[in-house]
Amino acid sequence: MTRPVHASIDVDALQHNFNQVRRLAPESRKMLIVKANAYGHGLLMCCTALKQADSFGLLDIKDAISLRKAGFLHPICLLEGFFSNDEIPLIAENKLEPVIHSDWQLDILDGTQQELGLVVWLKIDTGMRRLGFVPEKFKSVLMRLSAMKCVRKVSVMSHLADADRRESQKTGYQLKKFLTLTEATGLKRSMANSAAILAHPDCHLDWVRPGIMLYGSSPFVDLPASSLSLKPVMSLRSEIISIKDCQKGDAVGYGSNWHCPEDMKVGVVACGYGDGYPRHAPSGTPIMVAGKKTQLIGRVSMDMMTVDLRGIDSATIGSLVELWGNDVAVDAVAKMAGTISYELLCSVTERVKRQQVHG
Ligand SMILES: Cc1ncc(COP(=O)(O)O)c(C=O)c1O
Repeated sequence: MTRPVHASIDVDALQHNFNQVRRLAPESRKMLIVKANAYGHGLLMCCTALKQADSFGLLDIKDAISLRKAGFLHPICLLEGFFSNDEIPLIAENKLEPVIHSDWQLDILDGTQQELGLVVWLKIDTGMRRLGFVPEKFKSVLMRLSAMKCVRKVSVMSHLADADRRESQKTGYQLKKFLTLTEATGLKRSMANSAAILAHPDCHLDWVRPGIMLYGSSPFVDLPASSLSLKPVMSLRSEIISIKDCQKGDAVGYGSNWHCPEDMKVGVVACGYGDGYPRHAPSGTPIMVAGKKTQLIGRVSMDMMTVDLRGIDSATIGSLVELWGNDVAVDAVAKMAGTISYELLCSVTERVKRQQVHG
């Protein structure tokens, strides 16, 4: 017997969500964002299920190379580009597409006097104030890149700061800035993350870059994923490994901060923050035991947590527990823990086995 915590990865749901992207942005090419181990879901498993992608976007060159070794011939964009000059030969050899966001990267490329046939993404900061060249530098950077022997093709991208706040004026402002700067260039353009794919069709342009929606979570705090026809891909599951008969007034777990309001059964689940479940999730966070919704009680510890078994008479040792998935929305758990599903999903640790499932 092994420790029962595991993550089921529903590849049919992944494909369904990808089809949603296609339906929403039929004219745009799709760069599927699979950084951070495909948002915690498992890079190779997800890319295999998403073979119809036009491109993949990730961060680590070793992940890109692992995709090449597994036979993926798709364009692969390195979303933070390269970090030092010794990566340039690997990028060229593996036909990877680095984002160029800073002067120091231009200097490195300038020092490369070979024809490498590089395809690069020039990143413009239209208002996110994170990566990218300020708009005033766009023309000079483009001229510099276009004159480089090692570069064959330049595309342009920018990133939206507020696309998930549908009422924000900033998205329109960023889009206008991006379009004005780039319209005469004839270059391929990309701006839209999941929120913009769903809520700002004018941002779709030549390439969209969906991340969280592929994995079945909502980018909007006020709209559940189900209302956007997205299906959860990861179900984090474990089992009850012990049941305690507690007395009214008993304090449960570290810190003794949850007291039994009556005589009751408390279940111990083999999953904790060492597996990636958020330690900040408070008592009251939803959880499913033996097919019934209940609540987390007491503090989450490294490898275990305790749950309220009142009203779940069928719960026994080995009863299935869903931490999040089809019945407990990861967005709901994230909200209780004061974070977003992005963080929960990509925090699921290596020790949690990912199992591919269909439907
Ligand atoms: C550059 C870039 N594009 C696209 C995405 C996808 O964003 P989302 O997961 O919100 O769709 C990300 C993710 O943070 C990103 O960094």
